[in-house]
Amino acid sequence: MSLEGKVALVTGAGQNTGLGIAQALSAAGASVIINDVAADRAEAGAQAVKARGGTATSAPFDITDYSAVAAGIRAAEAELGAVDILVNNAGIPAEAQRQPFATSSPATWPPYIDINLYGSLNTTHCVLTGMLERNFGRVIQISSGSGAVANKGLGAAMYGAGKAGIEGALRHIATEVGDRGVTVNSLALGLMENLQAALDAEYPPLPDIFALNLIPRLGRGSDVGAAAVWLASDGAEYVTGQTIHINGGAYSGR
Ligand SMILES: NC(=O)c1ccc[n+]([C@@H]2O[C@H](COP(=O)([O-])OP(=O)(O)OC[C@H]3O[C@@H](n4cnc5c(N)ncnc54)[C@H](O)[C@@H]3O)[C@@H](O)[C@H]2O)c1
Repeated sequence: MSLEGKVALVTGAGQNTGLGIAQALSAAGASVIINDVAADRAEAGAQAVKARGGTATSAPFDITDYSAVAAGIRAAEAELGAVDILVNNAGIPAEAQRQPFATSSPATWPPYIDINLYGSLNTTHCVLTGMLERNFGRVIQISSGSGAVANKGLGAAMYGAGKAGIEGALRHIATEVGDRGVTVNSLALGLMENLQAALDAEYPPLPDIFALNLIPRLGRGSDVGAAAVWLASDGAEYVTGQTIHINGGAYSGR
């Protein structure tokens, strides 16, 4: 599956899952724009891709700020070319914490919606017209099982709302662009390796909701990257409006 000649933008790609996705897209031949709100992470991500022989540039902007998104994408496209593949990966607000809804303050709710719903809509809106003009585009949303399934004790109601919200919006958008070579899909992740340490450190501990993973390990950026490469490829041109779960079979073995 070659992505030679294609340009991909991955948001929140300075570390962990996003960087894994960017590395996979780069290994398949795409030039990658590494976005992160943290400029040093964006630059480090671009350098990491280049260190493996890829073509990359950093694009530090906050996806929740529409003007910054538009300007950041314009600047990166001037360097690498128009965005063919958008991976909306940024989705965990800096303020994120597990909390029961009943005792949460309303002031803590907006960041989850701002990053997952408005952030992904901002980036998608800024690249969609160009994709439609060129009759090719791939929008890949990184979602979470939390958008579809609730786990007792997880304390992630607003995170789930943000993920479910963007998946719903993108399904509608998929209906508007399917006849113009643009596909829109979501990859819903289970628990990834990078979150394990943080969750282990929390009190009260996370319920053992992943004990039933059919494949007994946690997810890696490379697992998500492999799926993103396929969705971005010509071979996946008939797949749109879908949510594909990448979670080692969690929720399937009960
Ligand atoms: N880690 C998990 O276990 C897990 C599970 C399910 C789904 N996901 C999803 O996978 C995606 C990546 O998760 P991760 O654990 O790699 O995240 P992470 O927090 O380790 O990395 C995300 C990056 O996004 C950047 N970022 C944050 N806000 C931003 C903004 N407004 N604009 C641009 N960049 C921003 C951060 O600086 C960070 O470098 C998220 O959408 C998350 O919801 C992760």
